[in-house]
Amino acid sequence: MRLATELFGVAFQNPVLLAAGTCGFGKELEDVLNLEGLGGFVTKSVTVEPRQGNAAPRVTEFGGGMLNSVGLANPGLDATRREKLPWIASNVRRAKVFVSLAGHTVEDFYRLVEGLDDADGFLGFEVNLSCPNDAKRGGPPFALDLEAVSEIVSGCRNRTQRPLLAKLAPNDTRLPMTVARATEAGADGLTLVNTIPGLLLRPDGTAELGAGPGGMSGPALRPVGLRSVSEARAHTSLPLLGVGGVFAPADAVAYARAGASLVQVGTASFADPRAGLRLARGLERWGRVEGVATWNELVRPAEA
Ligand SMILES: Cc1cc2nc3c(=O)[nH]c(=O)nc-3n(C[C@H](O)[C@H](O)[C@H](O)COP(=O)(O)O)c2cc1C
Repeated sequence: MRLATELFGVAFQNPVLLAAGTCGFGKELEDVLNLEGLGGFVTKSVTVEPRQGNAAPRVTEFGGGMLNSVGLANPGLDATRREKLPWIASNVRRAKVFVSLAGHTVEDFYRLVEGLDDADGFLGFEVNLSCPNDAKRGGPPFALDLEAVSEIVSGCRNRTQRPLLAKLAPNDTRLPMTVARATEAGADGLTLVNTIPGLLLRPDGTAELGAGPGGMSGPALRPVGLRSVSEARAHTSLPLLGVGGVFAPADAVAYARAGASLVQVGTASFADPRAGLRLARGLERWGRVEGVATWNELVRPAEA
């Protein structure tokens, strides 16, 4: 199966990207996998100031996947620009890179775009509107606030010509409206979904994670991600990036059938750091066995 696909004005050699927060800034994985075999990756979410993140333990497992509350630990805008992006610029060429941005305020997103836009090494931005673990900010994520979605996406749009993705939440009861707002505000693509809020308790009632609640990811998130992509497909003609519980070729194919042009792999990489590469190779084989010539023919088109 031919996996290459043209999107956002560039060619992705295959539709498999590593998801934000699960592959650092690429360099962290250079000894364990050939990043250049991927369609691309999304960096850890970057905030204006460096963040230490939440109390340990930050990650725990259960039968359906993982719960994490990393708390957006990251080196901040200046160090990302000075250290992380130059490494990507000189080491990653074929894989397409999105820099993920996160903020406490709407203005934080504008500062991040202004501060990074003229740097080299990446294709576009993914604005993380849906982090469930930002204890410092509190309240619901921006993705559940229609005004905030409009303001962040349109403000970032005015500040960059680069492809701009908006990453939305899995627990959005008004997803069609959120999708419409992000589309009208000028996003180039939508990433669905982030982790869903959850809590795991020990028998003594204490939380398994240091921060208490966290975000759930992995196989149990797949039906939620698929529904979100499918619902979004009916309300926008933008390209969609499907994420949530992608492990095997059949999972990626299901996201394509729901309407995703690209998929992102997160939790699967914790069990096997090469999961993304294995998936790309597995998709080729899947297509040969099933007699499907191209990835693109699997992708459910927009209706309008
Ligand atoms: C440990 C961990 C850290 C994450 N950090 C981020 C992050 O910084 N920004 C973001 O947008 N999503 C973050 N995510 C969410 C993933 O990008 C992805 O949306 C989610 O894990 C669902 O995909 P999966 O089931 O394949 O893991 C993180 C997920 C995990 C497991």
